Amino acid sequence: MNQHKLEKDKDRGVLLNSAKLVDGRVEVNWNHGASSAQFSPFWLRDHCHASHSLNADTLQRQVDTFSIPQEIAPATLEIADGGRTLNIVWDNEERLSTFPADFLWNIAREEGRARSPCRTLWDRDTMGENFPSVPHKEVMESDAGLLRWLSLVEEFGFALTTGAEGSMAGTEALVKRVAYVRETIFGGMWEFSANMAFKDTAYTSVAIGPHTDGTYSNDSPGFQMFQCLQFDGSGGDSTLVDGFKVADTIRQNDPKAFELLSEVKVPAHYLGDGVHLRAEHPIIGLDHNGDLSQVAYNNYDRAPFRLPAARMTEFYRALVLFHRLINDPTYEISMRLRPGTVLFFDNWRTLHGRHSFEGHRHMCGAYVNMEDFQSKLRVLRSAANPR
Ligand SMILES: [Fe+2]
Repeated sequence: MNQHKLEKDKDRGVLLNSAKLVDGRVEVNWNHGASSAQFSPFWLRDHCHASHSLNADTLQRQVDTFSIPQEIAPATLEIADGGRTLNIVWDNEERLSTFPADFLWNIAREEGRARSPCRTLWDRDTMGENFPSVPHKEVMESDAGLLRWLSLVEEFGFALTTGAEGSMAGTEALVKRVAYVRETIFGGMWEFSANMAFKDTAYTSVAIGPHTDGTYSNDSPGFQMFQCLQFDGSGGDSTLVDGFKVADTIRQNDPKAFELLSEVKVPAHYLGDGVHLRAEHPIIGLDHNGDLSQVAYNNYDRAPFRLPAARMTEFYRALVLFHRLINDPTYEISMRLRPGTVLFFDNWRTLHGRHSFEGHRHMCGAYVNMEDFQSKLRVLRSAANPR
């Protein structure tokens, strides 16, 4: 049983013990001894789960927030349905407001914010040689297989699938199993070989160090899928580095460097092919909880910027540390992609690169948006574990 299922089952078991008014707020207590939680009457009326106030299918708000009196107060509070529901009658209306216990519990615990997913950080030793993988047939033909594959990508930042059709069309079908193809300046489904079709180092045969794509985009591509369609030659292994593992290592060993890498927004740009893109990201992005949310690093595409002299010096020290660690072989895994094996990875976490090669190497792939990947996972998990 995975972590999400365990947590969901635990949440379902949450029951309300009591509810009372404390200083004008509604205080509820739980059956499993967790700390009590207080909710303002206005917030409760705004989040009423009765059908007159919330569309149960779309979870869209039906209540007119702006007609709720600022001084609204409960007339009665009642724990019903064996602790599964809080019912409130308000002093200004006769309709009953209802609140599921697990809804209140989740809000009390998370404040309505998304939690970062369960992740396993890795380096070369801990990853070993058995990379996360699901057979292509399972991914394509069953939702359970797709869920397993995407869950691995979420947990490890990448996963493979084997037995795919070694073609652009086969790769596109796999992308579309997850979400729609993201259009970028490189097109939708892209392919490249050493032909300099675009003004980008990916279109040559030299080694490419670990980086993330789209640092020059406000919404860097969330995920990337690769398939090697043809290879005649030597070298050219694909490399991956867990950027969150490196970030976590820096956080533990060099807090000052971590502060600079997570606070300084680094501009990046892409000029050529008729566009001039520009965006800014910290190299290490954090969410509202301080958890790692995005690594954005491509030294080739960094745009000029300057900090006050002393801070600039400190920033360069942190940048050098980050660059040294992501290029340290102890953090890198490599794989020789061949037709039929598809790599799908989190471009907000996993840095990718490739060794230099000689010969002909023909790759194809596509980007998928972060929000579409996350949406697909939610839908699959909800279907696998219906309420
Ligand atoms: Fe790249």
